[in-house]
Amino acid sequence: MKTEFVKISVTDGIEKYTDAAKLLKENQVVGMPTETVYGLAGNAYSDEAVKRIFEAKGRPQDNPLIVHISELSEIYDLVSEVPEIAKKLADAFWPGPLTMILPKSPKVPLSVTAGLDTVAVRCPSHPIARNLIKASGVPLAAPSANISGKPSPTKAQHVYDDLKGRIPYIIDGGECLEGVESTVITLATNTPKLLRPGNVTLSQLKCVLGEVQVDDAVLNPLKKGEKVSSPGMKYKHYSPVAEIVLVRGEYDNFVEYVNSYRGEKVYAMIFDNEGEKLNVPYIEYGTKDYKTLSHSLFDSLRELDKLGANICFVRYPDENNDDNLAVLNRLLRAAGFKVIDV
Ligand code: TXA
Ligand code: MG
Repeated sequence: MKTEFVKISVTDGIEKYTDAAKLLKENQVVGMPTETVYGLAGNAYSDEAVKRIFEAKGRPQDNPLIVHISELSEIYDLVSEVPEIAKKLADAFWPGPLTMILPKSPKVPLSVTAGLDTVAVRCPSHPIARNLIKASGVPLAAPSANISGKPSPTKAQHVYDDLKGRIPYIIDGGECLEGVESTVITLATNTPKLLRPGNVTLSQLKCVLGEVQVDDAVLNPLKKGEKVSSPGMKYKHYSPVAEIVLVRGEYDNFVEYVNSYRGEKVYAMIFDNEGEKLNVPYIEYGTKDYKTLSHSLFDSLRELDKLGANICFVRYPDENNDDNLAVLNRLLRAAGFKVIDV
């Protein structure tokens, strides 16, 4: 299959979306930018489109998709009820990087929810994503547009690298601002529960909701046989080919550990301007601020593979700062929970 790669800028008119919208109406799939990561979009009401999404990504069948809408009003078709707390969250964070899980309406096919009676809904803030939803006239189911298990794509080129020949169309809308996937919160439980941290932070959620539980799987590996609240938690994720090892401790100890490690193609991922004392090549992935780290995280992990790294030691963000939860959650999974204390 030929993959078209088309640049669209946020100032372009709706006529730019004609080809992509036509494909979506034909239940084909399209790579689209959002403010978090690129998504692989398809008509959420079509089993055929959903099947194509799963096939293109090689996604496990039991992992449900997020449905994207362009306005809050569109949620009423997707869920059986919109509770007051959902309205409050939408008011505070939509459009934006927050996904809410609610009991689904009969209109949502079980193929989207992988058989669950709940559906994940998000209204992205990226103008291109919202224009595409409007132009296609249906809500768009969209997982991250990577091959399952790989780091999520934050540039159109990442989507092309993973899915060329497997999907007909990719919109290049530039680099994603946030860089990590949306915060996922379930409102289908008695107390709202954070299932996946993102850049709508835990403290921001608590400001609106008061009490918020945090699922154990956010920072811990699943215990054998443990039941998951979100199927996505089960799978190895965000992994480049290079082995990722997280190194927790003071900077000088990090440097000493990495410099004394014997091996080939050894790399480090560090905070900005920390490279001077290192004897190995390195990638800077941001200041200690969570926004800069999340922005560069997946691109840096993909860069390691381009460089042919065998192993990469990564500086560990401050775990006492809840704003870092999203970056820590992704790094821990990329590393298969391998953490060395120095
Ligand atoms: O930022 C994002 O959320 C991106 C962009 C494209 O919007 N999308 C994304 O989708 O990250 P995906 O499929 O890679 O991750 C969706 C996560 C998975 O971990 C999945 O298990 C969980 O949401 N999920 C979806 N529906 C669910 C449901 N009904 N109950 C529990 N978890 C659900
Ligand atoms: Mg994903």
